[in-house]
Amino acid sequence: MTAPPARIVELGPDDALFPAWCEVWAAGQRADRPGEPPRPAQDHVALGRQLGTPGGSREGTHRAAVADDAVVGALRVILPLRDNASVAILDVAVHPDSRRRGVGSALLAEGAALAAGRGRTVLIAEVDEATPASPGRAFAERHGWTCDLLETRRDLLLPVDPARLRAVAAEAARAGGGYDVVTWRDRTPDALLEDRALLERRMTTDAPHGELPVEEEEWDGERIREYERSHVARGRTVLSAGAVTGSGRLVGFTELQVPLAQPERAHQGGTLVLREHRGHRLGARMKVAVLRELADRFPVVRRISTYNSDGNTPMVAVNEALGFRPAGRLSTWSLRQ
Ligand SMILES: CC(C)(COP(=O)(O)OP(=O)(O)OC[C@H]1O[C@@H](n2cnc3c(N)ncnc32)[C@H](O)[C@@H]1OP(=O)(O)O)[C@@H](O)C(=O)NCCC(=O)NCCS
Repeated sequence: MTAPPARIVELGPDDALFPAWCEVWAAGQRADRPGEPPRPAQDHVALGRQLGTPGGSREGTHRAAVADDAVVGALRVILPLRDNASVAILDVAVHPDSRRRGVGSALLAEGAALAAGRGRTVLIAEVDEATPASPGRAFAERHGWTCDLLETRRDLLLPVDPARLRAVAAEAARAGGGYDVVTWRDRTPDALLEDRALLERRMTTDAPHGELPVEEEEWDGERIREYERSHVARGRTVLSAGAVTGSGRLVGFTELQVPLAQPERAHQGGTLVLREHRGHRLGARMKVAVLRELADRFPVVRRISTYNSDGNTPMVAVNEALGFRPAGRLSTWSLRQ
């Protein structure tokens, strides 16, 4: 019998091995996307603590693959608790120096077993495809997973030419009478909280999800507050813009997340306009507003990354008009067990 490629051990975000667990992710990201700082360890630690805190909307567990006393692979299993009761999300990474030795397969099998033990029959995993030859795609295919959603990553280099921003804003303003665009940082104003929760529910059904076997998520004001606290704990600040009707209802939002320890690259979070309020160029107006806010408060940001399903023509059109350009892909895969 051949020896297993590595020992698999359970660990938590405050354990001595955890920095090495984070380094597995960082090493992979440095190899795949040189010139881009990897996700900071603090982000993994804060997420891990959140997943370990009872009463939240998700829980999770971590495993490390250890060979010759070094962490060579990392697994995180996330279980949604308020919805999607059959789903488990698996994050798997192997250090670039230890690939093609079966470590990834061993971690994937461990994640599948942990999920099955909790009655989860649908496994979901994401693959960042910096180049068309990404190992994650070949790995997922080899294990019989199905690609359910393909998104193109687009990056916007900052600062945006002010004339371009003015042109997009002027064109959008002509179509968007009857709505105000407001902005806030980190904490949704109380008066908009329940509407913000509805928008987040709709994100899981109205934003394109390809063939992903996921159901609408349960969001209320308290879950929005949990989400906001998790960003703060992960060292991020979140700038948001929203579209508000004359009667004070929030009917659209967009958000930008800035990692404060590495503010050069910001991330586009969700953007959504309720179906019945589409066609007024609110998406473009909100994006211009949040970009202006970003330029005022964080001129240090050099790049924003966003992910859109190729079928999401309106959102892609807004992003292209603002100057976002393709920078790889993100694929989401599933397996029923
Ligand atoms: C994807 C990843 C986890 C694979 O880890 P690994 O330890 O190298 O995987 P394994 O050795 O268990 O590979 C199992 C099989 O997957 C396929 N595979 C893995 N990497 C491959 C590559 N670069 N090219 C082609 N096939 C590949 C092969 O069929 C391989 O079997 P073989 O080596 O006998 O040919 C690793 O490359 C990684 O960390 N990538 C970045 C993170 C990521 O994409 N994770 C998504 C997981 S769904």
